[in-house]
Amino acid sequence: MKNEIFSENNPILVQKSGPLHGSVTVAGAKNSALKLMAACLLAPGKFTLHNVPAIADVKWMSELLEHMGASVTFNENQLKIEVPESLTPEAPYELVERMRASIVVLGPLLARFGQARVSVPGGDDFGHRPIDMHLRGLEELGARFTTSHGYIEAETSGLTGTRVLLEFPSVGATENLLMAAVLAEGTTVIDNAAREPEISDLADFLNQMGAEISGAGRSVITITGVKKLHPAEHTVIPDRIEAATYLAALGVVGGEIEIKQARADHMDMLIRKLNEMGMSISPSVEGLQASADKRLDSVDISTLPYPGVATDYKPLFVAMLSVAEGVGIVTENIFSGRFRYADELVRIGADIRIEGHHAVVRGLPALSGAPVRAHDIRAGAALVVAGLAAEGETRISDAYHISRGYQDLVGNLRSLGANISYS
Ligand code: EPU
Repeated sequence: MKNEIFSENNPILVQKSGPLHGSVTVAGAKNSALKLMAACLLAPGKFTLHNVPAIADVKWMSELLEHMGASVTFNENQLKIEVPESLTPEAPYELVERMRASIVVLGPLLARFGQARVSVPGGDDFGHRPIDMHLRGLEELGARFTTSHGYIEAETSGLTGTRVLLEFPSVGATENLLMAAVLAEGTTVIDNAAREPEISDLADFLNQMGAEISGAGRSVITITGVKKLHPAEHTVIPDRIEAATYLAALGVVGGEIEIKQARADHMDMLIRKLNEMGMSISPSVEGLQASADKRLDSVDISTLPYPGVATDYKPLFVAMLSVAEGVGIVTENIFSGRFRYADELVRIGADIRIEGHHAVVRGLPALSGAPVRAHDIRAGAALVVAGLAAEGETRISDAYHISRGYQDLVGNLRSLGANISYS
């Protein structure tokens, strides 16, 4: 890819900070951009994506598209992708291992080329993450899979629309099915589909490419297959998890900030919970205006598919509850293993007890800075947030995880007055 994307792995140093003041602008949503990039495989020609975040995951997805034969250039958050008539429909181990989201190339490759070879995604810090729903749904559309030497070999003599009922509203399975069904013969209905804003963004992009999708953003999505698609130009929706990260930072140290580009309509449940905790959040001309003028109150949180509280917000909530007034119980319903970062928060003084898929968080008036490690993107962001409320210095290693999902978390927080830098 031309124009390198910034990826920083020096430890992040955070000192007790606040209150925060000023404004920041959120970048485009990682979890939308990656899927839009995969969707480009569905048609030959030149695509342009605007508001693409300059993050490591975008770089890796670009490398995957390039491995298949596409050419990709990135410049000032604009990604240009040129997809040739013929591609090598393969996602190799080295790239899938780095980024599980690579699995979303399966649907588009099958739809356009009738075959795909994709490395089996391994486990990660969230525990075991199967792809059975992706495969079962694609099988129902007419794909056949075999697995050998760590690769899923997929083929079809032609996908045919049908009703697919998902066992759980999986984001990735919904996306793979959407991208397969757009070129299938006849009509596909995805029942119990994921409703995340990133799904609607993908459907909007596919429709601009000539697809016929209705119902995205609701539980039943209907796709009428078309013979072929064409390139399109699209602007990625803003990243609601990045916006939530600034809100969480504000929650632990107080102040008043504007978060430009943030969309309140994508964050209803989050805003409701933060209001309950004592923050004040309202729409502004360019995004959201938020203030926090006292120690937050604890609340109970339970993660659920959209429009429930996103699992990606959860580490941020645990960080906020660590310094809130009272006790909060956080229940994880999406990824069973997603509590590893709690041990790191405990290292900086948080009082967190894990019981199965619940965390009981007793808020303390202050935390105490220590060396900690980021195990994934959101865990890293939660450590940054907690570090802002910890006396002394918090040193976060393996900070490359943060560059996977945040364009400039450190710079943006510093611009709000936080005492944070790379070492
Ligand atoms: N699941 C299955 N079988 C499947 C698919 C999913 O059992 O075939 C299970 C998963 O193990 C999990 C649950 O269903 O327990 C939900 O998984 P989902 O498929 O919805 O998640 P995903 O598509 O793998 C995306 C985001 C995650 C985000 C989740 C939930 C991307 C690249 N990733 O993952 O974001 O946490 O949806 O909202 O879009 C992140 O950005 O840091 C991140 C991890």
